[in-house]
Order: sequence, then C-alpha cells, then structure tokens
Amino acid sequence: MPKATFHFPPDFLWGVATASHQVEGHNTNNQWWAWEQQEGRIKQGGVSGMACNWWENAELDFDRAEAMGLNTLRLSIEWSRVEVAPSRIDTAALDRYREMVRGLHARGIEPMVTLHHFSDPLWFAEQGGWLNENAVAYFTRYVEQVVKALGDEVTLWCTINEPNVYTVLGYVLGDFPPGIQDQRQAYRVLRAMLKAHAAAYRRIHQLQVKARVGLAHNYRFFDPYNPRSPRDRWVARIQDLGYNQSVLNPLLKGTWSLPVGVGFAWGLRRKLDWLGLNYYTRDLIQFDKEARAKFFGRATHAPDAELLDGNYGELYPEGMFRMLKKFAYMGLPLYITENGIPDADDDQRPRALLLHLHQMWRALQENMPVKGYYHWTLTDNFEWAEGWTLRFGLIELDPETQERTLRPSANLYSAIARGNAITPEILNAYVPVLRSELFPE
Ligand code: FCB
Repeated sequence: MPKATFHFPPDFLWGVATASHQVEGHNTNNQWWAWEQQEGRIKQGGVSGMACNWWENAELDFDRAEAMGLNTLRLSIEWSRVEVAPSRIDTAALDRYREMVRGLHARGIEPMVTLHHFSDPLWFAEQGGWLNENAVAYFTRYVEQVVKALGDEVTLWCTINEPNVYTVLGYVLGDFPPGIQDQRQAYRVLRAMLKAHAAAYRRIHQLQVKARVGLAHNYRFFDPYNPRSPRDRWVARIQDLGYNQSVLNPLLKGTWSLPVGVGFAWGLRRKLDWLGLNYYTRDLIQFDKEARAKFFGRATHAPDAELLDGNYGELYPEGMFRMLKKFAYMGLPLYITENGIPDADDDQRPRALLLHLHQMWRALQENMPVKGYYHWTLTDNFEWAEGWTLRFGLIELDPETQERTLRPSANLYSAIARGNAITPEILNAYVPVLRSELFPE
C-alpha cells in the first residue's frame, strides 16, 4: 500500500452548513410555519416544530462540531425573529444570535452568517414578499440591524441562499410558499433578490471594513442526455440558462440573460468578494415535445447512475471538479457552501463524501481558489417540503426526543477535518472499497 496522502491547504476551512428555519424550532412568525400548517404541503404532514431546538440550545450541536474538529460553521439569521413587525426590532433575538456566534468563536469555529435562507417574515410575505416594490429596501434595513449587532464577531457574510431555488420552487413549481406557478412572477422575484444582494453588499461594506460578502448559488449541471443530439443539447442549454446563468450572469458579467431579462444589470457587477456554490447533483436533459412548461426538456439520469435516496438524483462527484473549474478563472475565492446527500442509513454517504472531497482536492491541485467546504448538514433537520423524509445529517436526530446519534460519516468527516487530509488509514478505516480507486497500487 503506497503512503500517498491527499493534503489540503493549511488554512482550509472545514465546516457544516445549516439554516435558521431548519434547525431553530418554533419559528412561528415566518411564511414557512404558516405553510406547514396547510394540509398537503409537506411530505407525510411534517412540520418544523422544535426542529433541532437550536433557539434553546444550539450550543449542544456546537460542542459536537467542535469535537469533530471543525473550524467553521454556516448558520443563518431568521429575519422574522429579528424584525418581528415592520421596523420593530427584537433586541433580545439579536442578543441570542450574538451569544451563538460568540459561542462558535469560543470553540475555535469561525461563523459564516447567511442573512436570508428561504424564510421570510410573515408581515413581509403578506405584503407580497419579494414582489413588493420596497422589498430591497426592507431587506437592506434588516441587514443593517444584523451587521450592527454582530459586526464585531462576524466578517464572513452570505447575503442570500439560492435565489434560484427560492424562485423556482416558490413561483414556478409551486412546491414552496407562496405556491405560485407563474414564470413572470418568478423572474421578478429573482431580479429583486439579486438587487437585494447588491444593496446588502454595499451596505455591509459601508458598515464593516473587513467584511467579506458573498452569496450561495445552487449549481446544478444540465447535461444533454445524448451529447450527439442537437435537440438534447439545446434543451439542456435552456435549463442551464434559466437555472444557473440567470443568477450568475448578472453577478459575474453585469448583464441580465434570457429568460429573466435583457440588457445591463446595473449595479450588480463586482458585488461578490467570494462565490458560494451549493452542489448536490446533475440532471441529464432529453428533448421532449410534451414538456412545454419545462422548455421541452425532460430531466432524467444516466442509465448506469447510482441513485440517491428519496428520488434526489444521481451521485455525481465529478460535478464537484467540473463546477470548480468553471468558476476558477474569475479569481474570486470559492467556497463549497453546501454539499451532501440524503441517506438515513448512511450506506452511501461515506463513499459519497470521500469522492466529493477527492474531486475538490483535485481542483486544489490545479490551483483553483477553493477556501472552504461546508457539509450539508450537521444534524438531521426539517427539510422544507420534504419534511423529515430526507436525512442529510452527519448526526442522526430523533426530532421527538431530540436524541442524537453519530452516523459513521461523522467520524469519517472528523478524521479528514482534523488531519486536513485524506489518508490511506482513513480510507482503510471508513471506506475500504475506495482504497484501490483512490490509491491505486
Ligand atoms: C439546499 C438548501 C438547504 C437544504 C439542502 C438539502 O437547496 O439550501 O436548505 O435544504 O438543499
């Protein structure tokens, strides 16, 4: 057995990602809580309930993150707790967040703070949410409060999580609140969110010299099912434009692109100090003349693909490398702000985790500027419309009893983070099936 080791850079950040509504519990003042009360909205009638009980005791999980040897953690601030009604700020809520981020520092864990992760205050949703002409101003006003309260503890800011997922699920497919299926509204929402990102970027920098501000984009590959078919290539390209480029073109190139808009995206360029990429899977796209509503593209997967639980798509670790290569040229620091798989029995996760991290290591060998990796997620949590049916945690959670059990993947991830490397010993101990693939004799 050769003694090769895949090392990561000395200051590499190893963390986990979370979101307020998925972990805090009792976020009764946002649009998701209201949505959960409606029949048929959440799989198996799930509700967020007390979630992972973070509002009471996030520190319990922070201890576990520390014990795993992690040095960063991504968490989000719940707008509906901070601004309970228009302009009515709950300072006790801000104090609690302050306590949390201080608690992270005390454990040697750098916080990355997301300012919007899918949940909106009820009052904001009732006024039309991101379709309201004042949405950007409302959001910036809230951001200002957070930065003033946490600015001496936090410098790594993620303005908005996945504007594309928020708009596609909420305004095209209708699976997320407000359950609308109207492409035009979707584009308006997306434009507002991107403008809100830019406005927040400017405001944060005015308030904090050391701030590093970015956004997390859900990047999904849309590959043609048959690369030789011009029609498959064409429909795959359309999906990519609508899902990926609609967000990335304005931010990276300063231009809107169809179908969201045309022309210059004034004020949106150079509003990223770093780019966050949430990577899960890919789709293979096939031309289908019946799929009018989906721009004639039908999503499928490779015939030999290893599929993930809960219909989540294919296991496609190569996508990690391909994606990083796409963005490395920009010279912006890149963070993998989310990556993981749903896997309650942890029979695929150890291999999946290793293969993804190995692809990230490959990217680092080619000098791609990857600064950190946030696994989704630490503890099983409320998985939006999927309720509790998808389990993404390194730690298993029984939401009723709040009992937690480490999955084998938690120990694997811990060994990698602690050693800042993938070693043959780690492979032997946790994923022996990969030994010959990653360390050929
Ligand atoms: C991402 C979301 C995150 C979680 C994972 C599984 O799209 O940002 O909250 O739901 O998917």
